[in-house]
Amino acid sequence: RTEIRKLYEDPSRYTVSEQTVCGWVRTIRLSKTFGFIELNDGSCLQNLQIVFDDQLPNFMEVSKLNVGSSLVVKGNLVLTPQAKQPFEIKATSVTVEGTSTPEYPLQKKRHSFEFLRTIAHLRPRTNTFSAVFRVRSLLAYAIHKFFQENGFVYVHTPIITSSDCEGAGEMFRVTTLDLDNLPRNNDGAVDFSEDFFGKSTYLTVSGQLSVETYCMAFSKVYTFGPTFRAENSNTVRHAAEFWMVEPEIAFADLKDDMELAEAMLKYVINYVMENAPKEMEFFNNFIDNGLIERLTLVKDSQFEHVTYTDAIKILEKADQDFQYPVYWGCDLQTEHERYLTEKYFKKPVFVTDYPKDIKAFYMRLNDDGKTVAAMDLLVPGVGEIIGGSQREERYDYLERRIKELGMKMEDYWWYLELRKYGTVKHAGFGLGFERALMYITGMQNIRDVIPFPRTVNHAEF
Ligand code: 4AD
Ligand code: MG
Repeated sequence: RTEIRKLYEDPSRYTVSEQTVCGWVRTIRLSKTFGFIELNDGSCLQNLQIVFDDQLPNFMEVSKLNVGSSLVVKGNLVLTPQAKQPFEIKATSVTVEGTSTPEYPLQKKRHSFEFLRTIAHLRPRTNTFSAVFRVRSLLAYAIHKFFQENGFVYVHTPIITSSDCEGAGEMFRVTTLDLDNLPRNNDGAVDFSEDFFGKSTYLTVSGQLSVETYCMAFSKVYTFGPTFRAENSNTVRHAAEFWMVEPEIAFADLKDDMELAEAMLKYVINYVMENAPKEMEFFNNFIDNGLIERLTLVKDSQFEHVTYTDAIKILEKADQDFQYPVYWGCDLQTEHERYLTEKYFKKPVFVTDYPKDIKAFYMRLNDDGKTVAAMDLLVPGVGEIIGGSQREERYDYLERRIKELGMKMEDYWWYLELRKYGTVKHAGFGLGFERALMYITGMQNIRDVIPFPRTVNHAEF
């Protein structure tokens, strides 16, 4: 059987012999003695036009088909250069694999994304989601391709962990304890030594700490997998389950880290634009006008750099009232990020050297004693898509910070040992995979770039 994608690549190649195509009915139009079916098999965005007539032994059956039915069609490809579609298939046989009913929710009309979220099991059959999820697949491939071509080793870091990498306390507990009958210590606290792993465990918020250990052996590594955050924020950019790409490089500082981030992002944008031109055209026309022009500019120009301290000065002088107050030491909110990247710089911008108190324990303390060698990459339309840093490679500094924050030394002994045995300056970052996908497709809501999104109060499907 031939994929519809193949037919569109070079239709004239397929005119010489009978073709077999399989797919689902997108539309069906009828006259008395003949009809047209728009068939889609998901191999590309385009539908294939099937013409059938009453020469078919099952003409009546085919005429009565509902949208959504699945078919195997045999027939001859005819070039139709004068028509809207460049070719069609004149059916010699149509086998109905599975019928559909008139209640099939995806009738030919535009549905709202809100509605389509309620039928997440069917929405990949629409044009928008067909394009989104093909690009999602391609973007994942492009990321692997970039790192593999540059000598990085892919490390599978654990999903179940006992350490809170980001220290934000936003972890989902993993337990086999019976919630109705929890084992208790003498003081009444839950006794997690009775739990499956003999201690408290959680779903990971980041693979970073584990991947750092492999970085100290392979020099250049990355992990790319699902991460989980029990953040109680119901926004268009936060999911409880999302994928993160986390490279880590040894003998490298923050500047090297930013160069890597910029090179990676440009590479994957270019890869998707070259390998999914139809999908990108679709997003440009129907989701976000100007997308292609903007991405083209991004991949051909230098990203901006600004320190946190200078960014605060810019925000303090901004000709805009913010909901959240701006002062040195505040965490940048979405509105601040958007001002910087959309109104002020009008391109992707690295914000560097944040106050240590609003960043994670592992970031390298700068000489000023107040800031850390951190970087966030902000992009127009989405805000933060990358968070990274140079890591604290000095044993005494790291130990002091862990104690300062009241973290348990015994949970991080192995992480500290890296600073004891051949420590080296190193850096890395985390790219939010869905945020990158939103940026590249122009999709506005993270729920619409994840097949089955998990957010506060939502774990359907
Ligand atoms: O800035 P974050 O928290 O950084 C880390 O986790 C580091 N350990 C990464 C590293 O240095 N290896 O998260 C990294 C990125 C963010 O910039 C954002 O794009 C994405 O992950 N992200 C989320 N994406 C969707 N939903 C959420 N709830 C997210 N939280 C973070
Ligand atoms: Mg961050």
